[in-house]
Amino acid sequence: MKNYKITLIKGDGIGPEIIDEAVKVLDAVSSCCGFNLTYDEALMGGIAYDITGDPLPQETITKSLNSDAVLFGAIGGEKWDALPREKRPESGLLRFRKELGVYANLRPAVVYDELINASSLKPEIIKGVDIMVVRELIGGIYFGEPKGRTADKGWNTMVYTREEIVRIAHQAFRIAQKREKRVCSIDKANVLDVSQLWRDVVTEVSAEYPDVELTHMYVDNAAMQLVLNPKQFDVMLTGNIFGDILSDEASMLCGSIGLLPSASVGEKIGVYEPIHGSAPDIAGQGIANPIATIASASMMLRYALGEIEAADKIDYAIKKVLSEGYRTGDLAQFDAKEVCSTSEIGSIIANYIQR
Ligand code: NAD
Ligand code: IPM
Ligand code: MN
Repeated sequence: MKNYKITLIKGDGIGPEIIDEAVKVLDAVSSCCGFNLTYDEALMGGIAYDITGDPLPQETITKSLNSDAVLFGAIGGEKWDALPREKRPESGLLRFRKELGVYANLRPAVVYDELINASSLKPEIIKGVDIMVVRELIGGIYFGEPKGRTADKGWNTMVYTREEIVRIAHQAFRIAQKREKRVCSIDKANVLDVSQLWRDVVTEVSAEYPDVELTHMYVDNAAMQLVLNPKQFDVMLTGNIFGDILSDEASMLCGSIGLLPSASVGEKIGVYEPIHGSAPDIAGQGIANPIATIASASMMLRYALGEIEAADKIDYAIKKVLSEGYRTGDLAQFDAKEVCSTSEIGSIIANYIQR
């Protein structure tokens, strides 16, 4: 029987609650599909700082690089907000992504028919939305130098090199080839030099993909178009900070940020993580929606392990359970038959798979 090693990073806030449900579902699907998963936990974020003094202990990097994939919950919380920048949970996560070289963050935003009333937008605007945000993850303003602050001044630098743009653009075009064959590259080329380079390089790379249509859009317009007519988008290719913001915006087309998964991939090991954060406002109450993390586990099976049948089973079970009206609190107002806790909905999905 095939055996895969998974590094689990639960993190802070709702992180442990949502990862536990993903593990429940993974265990159900692995026993159905004839493979075995071995989990090894590792620390990151505020909890890692509290225990080791470092938000990203070296052991976490080593463990992750020696596994087949990483499943990650979320980090951060007010408790650690006043720490020096390099000790903050968020810095641990950024360093982790950089160490693993996961330059491409794939964030699908798919509207389920079952949740058509859950979005704050009208059903006719969102029905059938299926967008893939391809977000560059280890460059841009998050990492550019110089950066710093004094009492009266703070600064960061948005930098992209040709090489960084080329590799993320290839990802986007290859993904588009398997979808509707349309890439919309989002930038701020009317103002930023870095975006002008981005636009030029994406256009150059597009010459290798004549079957894919490339368009460009300024990020401010894209934010508006996303709520005006989201169905115009297939693949949205963009840099680190714009992708961060636009994917949170896209989540509300779907009904809740608690639904959106992601895959962070590059040359080494991939990290599979919900797009949302540690949700300190609801942590510890057992009400967080674990579906984003369960769907991230499905992306892990599909992309990292090649266990396609198992991934399909999870995706189908999520849809089925939503169609039967089971909802966590974030979606409770919308066609809910039964409002469930985090662990109840995890069990219902796991049981559905084992039926
Ligand atoms: P957040 O995504 O944690 O929460 C935003 C809102 O969405 C909150 O009202 C929250 O309750 C809700 N929400 C998020 N996930 C949910 C879920 N699964 N089910 C139901 N509701 C959910 O963003 P924030 O409040 O801006 O940030 C909180 C902390 O998380 C900060 O410390 C931030 O830095 C961190 N953060 C971490 C990550 C990550 O680990 N990848 C991502 C974003 C934010
Ligand atoms: C995310 C988060 C992170 C980001 C933060 C916590 C560093 O918002 O995963 O989307 O901005 O990438
Ligand atoms: Mn974010």
